[in-house]
Amino acid sequence: SSNQDLAGRRIAISAGGTREPLDPVRFLGNRSSGRQGVALAAAAAARGAQVTLVAAHLEVPAPSGVTVRPVSTTAELQEAMQAAAKDADTVIMAAAVADYRPATVEPGKIKKDQAGDRLALELVRNPDILAGLAAARTPGQLVVGFAAETETDRGALLELGRTKLARKGCDYLVVNRVGWHEGFAADDNAVIVLDAAGAIVGEATGGKVSVAHAILDVVSNPPATGTS
Ligand code: C5P
Repeated sequence: SSNQDLAGRRIAISAGGTREPLDPVRFLGNRSSGRQGVALAAAAAARGAQVTLVAAHLEVPAPSGVTVRPVSTTAELQEAMQAAAKDADTVIMAAAVADYRPATVEPGKIKKDQAGDRLALELVRNPDILAGLAAARTPGQLVVGFAAETETDRGALLELGRTKLARKGCDYLVVNRVGWHEGFAADDNAVIVLDAAGAIVGEATGGKVSVAHAILDVVSNPPATGTS
């Protein structure tokens, strides 16, 4: 890209879905493909930013020209994002993070003959990485979160977004609709970007690359009254 408006910026981006092991061969995962986060990383690098991509499980290759830190579990993603955030002016949590993980990880394969016809899994809550990064942000550092929601009504979607924004304490929230056939694995995406006050500061529909650029337009031009 000829537009180098992110030159000198250091951006940490998480992408993909985390996996929580149940035993050595099984995990709890989600349908995130990592496409939107990868598109953000590629677009930010093309606009001159120095990008660290903390990559959970991706269905697409990581882009070239960015530093990739591969992770698998939520705990690993948290550690890698906290480290990457230390020298980033912008932190974007595009990863689909598991809200819960198995309370215990079995050292050997869970066996049908031992577990029987019903097997109950006990899950424990994972930490909210985004809320933690927002609470720990340094003056001037921007923290951007995503909200993937299955709500079809625009008003309800915005309402959910604004509630989530307040709970997470981030500077921007990218709200996008997901369902069985849209959002995660799809090539296209539709997003609304909210600022910390809940105002709509960006909106984009289209390929994940053009959506990425629209999100970065907001990030490249933070309001003077923005953070800290
Ligand atoms: O609460 P919810 O999962 O809808 O929030 C989504 C946003 O929060 C995303 O930016 C996601 O990366 C982040 N998140 C997180 N840690 C969690 C759950 C979600 O950072 N445990």
